Amino acid sequence: MASIGTKNYEPTVARKVAFLGLGVMGLPMAGHLARAGHDVTVYNRSPGKARAWVEEFGGRSAPTPREAAAGAQIVFACVGNDDDLRSVVLGADGAFAGMAPGAVFVDHTTASADVARELYAKAKELGLNFVDAPVSGGQAGAVNGVLTIMCGGEQAVFDAIKPVAEAFGRAVTLVGAPGAGQLAKMVNQICIAGIVQGLSEAIAFGQAAGLDMKLVLDVISKGAAQSWQMENRGGTMVDDKFDFGFAVDWMRKDLGLVLAEARNNGARLPLTALVDQFYGDVQKMGGGRWDTSSLIKRLRD
Ligand SMILES: NC(=O)c1ccc[n+]([C@@H]2O[C@H](COP(=O)([O-])OP(=O)(O)OC[C@H]3O[C@@H](n4cnc5c(N)ncnc54)[C@H](OP(=O)(O)O)[C@@H]3O)[C@@H](O)[C@H]2O)c1
Repeated sequence: MASIGTKNYEPTVARKVAFLGLGVMGLPMAGHLARAGHDVTVYNRSPGKARAWVEEFGGRSAPTPREAAAGAQIVFACVGNDDDLRSVVLGADGAFAGMAPGAVFVDHTTASADVARELYAKAKELGLNFVDAPVSGGQAGAVNGVLTIMCGGEQAVFDAIKPVAEAFGRAVTLVGAPGAGQLAKMVNQICIAGIVQGLSEAIAFGQAAGLDMKLVLDVISKGAAQSWQMENRGGTMVDDKFDFGFAVDWMRKDLGLVLAEARNNGARLPLTALVDQFYGDVQKMGGGRWDTSSLIKRLRD
């Protein structure tokens, strides 16, 4: 079965690109680049995923980020966290060591604004370019090539990468200077934390009251309480199904970045800090890999 959905790509000049990190998100994102006509070389730490990707999509795989990045006009990456990102970018086998002057590194990892600024500065020293570009839209967004992409960087560099990133993105937007993409993603995660807790309380309340909650959600999702979480996760929350989607472990990583940034900028995040602790409870229940909508489990078990 194909691991990506079909998409009508806007015509664009074919580029030589690399993609580092073929996880849940990276594998389909790199697949859309290949299907859109770009010349793609992939790298993955565990080589089996890279071999499987090449079998499905063509292109090439390389044994190190440096070799994957050699000759690429744009190097995309989507790995786990700040340290993972540094390990594919820096050092003798890192992507920066292989990139030619003028090439652009586009990072789709959800990471800190600090590491984005650090790698932007390092890139500039080497005559390279760097854009932080975390994504929203989940696995389904990556599979269907409809991610929302929040970018931080320079306008001219952003303009050059935007048509290429549109292979897997629906809304690709420059929101500000280096690091601003990561800060925008933090805003996104703050919104999600509060919404999922509210939705959890609402569904648990409705079930305790004996309501047909699928019917109730269907009705209220046409009114002011509507949200992406309600439409896409409400039904599975009612059914107590969480074995898919965006893992609680990743959400805790993201909320850790949010709370650290808030300590720097002085923003007050009482609800986000509380929900972060609730996600800690879910981890203790064994739910680290459950979808973030599993917040409702605390209210049931
Ligand atoms: N999943 C979602 O719904 C979602 C949505 C929005 C944003 N994100 C963000 O996107 C990023 C990736 O998420 P994902 O769900 O795709 O994760 P994932 O399935 O766990 O994949 C992580 C990828 O990073 C690679 N990697 C991790 N550490 C590495 C290291 N030290 N050196 C080299 N490669 C390393 C992994 O290689 P191996 O295969 O060798 O382990 C794998 O290819 C995260 O920052 C996440 O927060 C995820």
